[in-house]
Amino acid sequence: MAYLLWNGELPTKEQLAEFAARERAGRALDPVVKQVIDALPVTSHPMDVCRTAASVMGARHPLAEDSSREANMAKAVDLFAAMPAVVAYDQRRRHGQELVEPRDDLGYSANFLWMAFGEEQVPEVVEAFNVSMILYAEHSFNASTFTARVITSTLSDLHSAVTGAIGALKGPLHGGANEAVMHTFDEIGIRQEESLEEAAARAKAWMEDALAKKKKVMGFGHRVYKHGDSRVPTMKAALDKMIAHYGRPELLGLYNGLETAMDEAKAIKPNLDYPAGPTYHLMGFDTPTFTPLFVASRITGWTAHIMEQLDSNSLIRPLSEYNGVEERHLP
Ligand code: COA
Repeated sequence: MAYLLWNGELPTKEQLAEFAARERAGRALDPVVKQVIDALPVTSHPMDVCRTAASVMGARHPLAEDSSREANMAKAVDLFAAMPAVVAYDQRRRHGQELVEPRDDLGYSANFLWMAFGEEQVPEVVEAFNVSMILYAEHSFNASTFTARVITSTLSDLHSAVTGAIGALKGPLHGGANEAVMHTFDEIGIRQEESLEEAAARAKAWMEDALAKKKKVMGFGHRVYKHGDSRVPTMKAALDKMIAHYGRPELLGLYNGLETAMDEAKAIKPNLDYPAGPTYHLMGFDTPTFTPLFVASRITGWTAHIMEQLDSNSLIRPLSEYNGVEERHLP
């Protein structure tokens, strides 16, 4: 998927082998980036850690001031290869755990999970994680991609654009929604002993109350998809497999209850963040780490847009309509 986004075409077997070797060679966490992460409080949001790490990687990149296509491609691959180490290590340090070194005998997703948990995961879990990474990789002119485009259009550098994009993604109306979904589940209360039906009934009641209070419920609705997000069925199938794998039907109950109540009341459909949140929860990721997982994947889409923007650049500068007083006089 990363190769396709950057090159506009799927790789041949040889190209894939070369590309995978390049990605595997760039997985280690730069010791200086690690030092910077260690200097940040464990109370800081993991998205702030990601944003800071991207910025430090940019300042330290040997091609920092080179924005040629070749240099940008190298920077994009470097960011893509190293971001899992940032996300995984940041989650670990919050639990007082050491960095886990990457393994170059594992694929991207298997290695990501290895670095996060220090244990190899079974193929079903790796596959579900991989599905989420593919679905998150690219999504046209969403807010963070547009942010990256605007920054690039000033002829600033790739890492500045990615750093800004991470800031935009953090918000709960955008990528932060996958984290917010889990907060909703927590607010309703996850009761492992509960049956699917009992959990669904409580979730439905919670949603009816939330909508009566005119609350916005994260993980539902989309600026573009007004009749359902085309990525949801694929991610929901991955979530179903994880629910079966971990034996957690009550989570499906909460999921179904919220979805049904929202559909009945407002016909608003879930977006990708809705099934992604509980999937990451089941895998063992801390809730604030969910949006950084999105970052690690979206690096590919953002940087593809950055390179495309530079290929035929024009400064992005919208006009605004002034509606203040016509003229002021000094007293
Ligand atoms: N919960 C409750 N009501 C919602 C809603 C949600 N998640 N999303 C939309 N609505 C309601 C709005 O309140 C509005 O109701 P009203 O007409 O009674 O005022 C109506 O649906 C139309 O919504 P609107 O705000 O015009 O849609 P939008 O295109 O501006 O918003 C989002 C799109 C994504 C910003 C919005 O759906 C939202 O905030 N969703 C939650 C955040 C989220 O999951 N983001 C991830 C997106 S991938």
